Amino acid sequence: MAGAGDALSALFGLQDKFVLVTGSTQGIGKATAKAFVAAGAKVIVNGRRQDTVDSTVAELNSAGLAGSAVGVVGDLSTAEGIASLARQVDDIGALAVLVSNVGIFEVKDFFAIPDAEWQRYFDVNVMSTVRICRHFLGPMLQRGAGRIIIVSSECGVRGLHTMAHYAMTKAAQINLSRSLAELTRSTNVTVNAVLPGPTLTEGVVEYLRGVAEARSVTREQAQADYFKENEPTSLLQRFLTPEEVANTILFLGSQAASGINGSAQRVEGGIIATAA
Ligand SMILES: NC(=O)c1ccc[n+]([C@@H]2O[C@H](COP(=O)([O-])OP(=O)(O)OC[C@H]3O[C@@H](n4cnc5c(N)ncnc54)[C@H](OP(=O)(O)O)[C@@H]3O)[C@@H](O)[C@H]2O)c1
Repeated sequence: MAGAGDALSALFGLQDKFVLVTGSTQGIGKATAKAFVAAGAKVIVNGRRQDTVDSTVAELNSAGLAGSAVGVVGDLSTAEGIASLARQVDDIGALAVLVSNVGIFEVKDFFAIPDAEWQRYFDVNVMSTVRICRHFLGPMLQRGAGRIIIVSSECGVRGLHTMAHYAMTKAAQINLSRSLAELTRSTNVTVNAVLPGPTLTEGVVEYLRGVAEARSVTREQAQADYFKENEPTSLLQRFLTPEEVANTILFLGSQAASGINGSAQRVEGGIIATAA
């Protein structure tokens, strides 16, 4: 008799499916890669460095999970880097799920952000998403099946004066996600954005270390103060874990989410103070 695990696995429909998670050697990307491997998928891990890609793949493959991982090194900040990654992924197999996760962020005073930095944020965060979707959405539409999840942020909805350049790119991703979803009419392809709130990834731990140093307090203290000072509307009043965000991405990437298309799914602990 099939167990509950088998039933869930059938509902998710991810067994042996190829899944690409861009920027997946740490943080939300790595947790997402792990969630898909746990669901039985064949996950392609990506980052810019051979050593971290290799160690992530080794870690996922030795975790005793139902699926497996392979690695593709590639810098997604350039058209050439994406073309090279796309070629290597095409050689591996037809993608069932694309998670466009690569993103850079930094706290910076609006008046101190030069033009070149606005352009860099646009290139890495927006153009990486445009280019990777342009490559993989067409074949998904031809097959009539596939899932694209674009990892944006809640700040793409509400703005963020401490990271205006970053928030601008996250707003662009939400809009792009909706436009691409409109190309999927009458297919089993879906495109959705995910809007995480502050999540305790390596990138954010690094940021909190900087805050702590500037204030001469411990990193733990800076972390504890963060929500009181910066996110009074958060209902959780804590950082999300990368796994909490990954669970949402996994669901949207599964067959179980076949009715959700063109949406911006929040996983932000209630920071945005509206119900819809
Ligand atoms: N953390 C948060 O609080 C938060 C909140 C909302 C939304 N998000 C979004 O979630 C996504 C992931 O954030 P995170 O905090 O998990 O990031 P992170 O900890 O900084 O990790 C970023 C990942 O992307 C890879 N990467 C960076 N630049 C790359 C490039 N040009 N080409 C290929 N890979 C690259 C990094 O590996 P290498 O350095 O080895 O290349 C790493 O694996 C981003 O889109 C971010 O905007 C994060």
